[in-house]
Amino acid sequence: MSAAVTHMLATDLDGTLVGDAKGLKHLINYYKNLPYEVSLVYITGRHLESAISLIKSEQLPTPKLLVTDVGTSIYQGSNMEQDLEWKQKMKKDWYPRQIREAAKDFPQIKPQQLPDDRRVSFTIEERENEHIVEEFKKALDAEQIPHNFIFSSGRDIDILPAGSGKGEALRFIAGKFADGDTSILVAGDSGNDLEMLTLGYPSVIVANARQELLEVKENANLYRATKTCAGGIHEAWKYFYG
Ligand code: GLC
Ligand code: MG
Repeated sequence: MSAAVTHMLATDLDGTLVGDAKGLKHLINYYKNLPYEVSLVYITGRHLESAISLIKSEQLPTPKLLVTDVGTSIYQGSNMEQDLEWKQKMKKDWYPRQIREAAKDFPQIKPQQLPDDRRVSFTIEERENEHIVEEFKKALDAEQIPHNFIFSSGRDIDILPAGSGKGEALRFIAGKFADGDTSILVAGDSGNDLEMLTLGYPSVIVANARQELLEVKENANLYRATKTCAGGIHEAWKYFYG
């Protein structure tokens, strides 16, 4: 990505950029007709192959950067070259085996099938089981296993390397590819987006956001859209930069 990034949309995919085809088409058209280029950064919980298949099936524009696995991997350009600096950082103090071992004490927490170890994720079925999620978190803390614990949509538990997550990945990207003058909009709809939505950049929570984002404290840089998905991003772009 060239140094001259003037505008950047850093957005989650499922339930944010993707979810309302008509709104998405409008947003893409709007961006095409602007007098400046908006650099697209997709920041998703999906793994690489799954993210690429969504980009294809939804015919999303190829992003400048693709961040997968809840912020644990960053890929650049159309040939999706992995950012090795970030990869090295993620490997430090990362103990996936111990995390899986600790999870065995909680049979309600089911491991997700993932292609590799860059994160360890689980799902939990019932909302009533949320106290179990808390206990799992406490167990990891008690064993002093370094990690970042992300719970989304009352269902997904992502255990990430400490210093990782969508927020830290975006902070790294902003430092490496943007500058103080870049106009950034961050967009999300669920718990794994929380850290990037509260970095202090102009941010939008789309109207279809999950409960955990409805509880976020208000601030001047946080816009709550009245429209869902891409329609909400469009609305917020005009609010901050229109
Ligand atoms: C996506 C991923 C899943 C992850 C969830 C929350 O649904 O596919 O692995 O747990 O996002 O981050
Ligand atoms: Mg989402």
